[in-house]
Amino acid sequence: MKEGNGQPPRRHVETEVLTRGFDPRLSLGSARPAVFRSSTYVFSSPEAAERAFAVALGKIKPIEGEDVELIYSRLSHPNAEILEDHVVPLETGATCAAAFNTGMAAISALFLTLCRPGQALIHTVPLYGGTHHLLQELLLPYGVRPVAVPAGDGHSMKSAIEETEEVAIVFIETPANPTLRMTDIAAAAEAARRCSSRPIVAVDNTFLGPVFQHPLELGADVCVYSATKYLAGFSDMLGGVVTARDPVLVDRLRGTRAILGDILQPDESWLLDSRLATVSLRMNRQSKNAQRIVEGLVGHERLERIHYPAQFEDSEQKRIYGSQCDFPGGIFSLELVGGKTAAFEFLRRLRITRNAVSLGGMESLACHPATTTHSEMSPQQLRDAGVTDGLVRISVGIEDWRDLLDDYRSALDAI
Ligand SMILES: Cc1ncc(COP(=O)(O)O)c(C=O)c1O
Repeated sequence: MKEGNGQPPRRHVETEVLTRGFDPRLSLGSARPAVFRSSTYVFSSPEAAERAFAVALGKIKPIEGEDVELIYSRLSHPNAEILEDHVVPLETGATCAAAFNTGMAAISALFLTLCRPGQALIHTVPLYGGTHHLLQELLLPYGVRPVAVPAGDGHSMKSAIEETEEVAIVFIETPANPTLRMTDIAAAAEAARRCSSRPIVAVDNTFLGPVFQHPLELGADVCVYSATKYLAGFSDMLGGVVTARDPVLVDRLRGTRAILGDILQPDESWLLDSRLATVSLRMNRQSKNAQRIVEGLVGHERLERIHYPAQFEDSEQKRIYGSQCDFPGGIFSLELVGGKTAAFEFLRRLRITRNAVSLGGMESLACHPATTTHSEMSPQQLRDAGVTDGLVRISVGIEDWRDLLDDYRSALDAI
């Protein structure tokens, strides 16, 4: 990329993610970072300890370029810092990131940092079941008012932002889990910017980010991830990540993380860091696979509908997809004729795709959201959100798409 004004050349994402942040000299010259399995760090002097605590508590700011000494791994540790440095170039528009031990930990830290009793949190529906549970079971009793807006309903989103008093956060899950309905991030960010309480706009970017959707470029303030999914990519660890433009906001989230004690541990940070360089390769393959499979399933007589961005029929959904996403991604949902019985029968007959919750791993997984991931919602809430009894969510892996298409066709034919 361009060089100029004495600045070092900006490199492409795939290069940055492998080269930035980590200095081999700090790991005895090892080409890959070492794992620093230490709960505490030795200070070079009592004065250095005092200074490190003063910085950590926000009493003073470090001087530019200063290496403030590490304190204790619940606050931060080298593997989390290396990981956070490597996440930043993946997220267009981000200047900083924070790593958590699950996606729910990242979302909880965001809500608990920014919402005070009496304030409102506007969110899209449907919402991942865990986030819905967090809002209803923890935030609501604590006095925070959740305000639900149907995903993709731009008019309701704009009025909710304009008319709700004291909005702390606008939380957008797009595409929504499991209906893939999309919400216009730029329009919500614009409404939030004009609102006197200036709520923080946060996007759960787990389904399409950081490769195919760039919320910070569209005006959002924060992205949250279940890093358990595409970022980690192998269904073998849990993790969460927050990325943002404003370092002060990320510092506040790190402060909450230190209180709640949910930083990602050194081994897990190392593992997640090693997966970042392949996230774009994996997501591209998964998206291409899903696209070909969906094309092969369109019109099957056992299917009432397929929910997939490349197959949107609604003109507003098509517009949002075209304006804010690069590719449709690796997740689609099938709505089967015959409701829950047909959906269960389909899951039972799959031979390659495993019946498990979670998504974004190299292997294909399928689940029945109404009775699993979204079972905390009432029947009415499920109906309103479009999570029907016949809906099966599929996360496509990196297997050969022809085998997967055969798997789905055979299971559908046999019902
Ligand atoms: C969209 C979305 N957000 C957040 C989460 C929570 O992530 P974790 O399970 O890593 O806590 C999930 C988990 O499935 C999810 O699908």
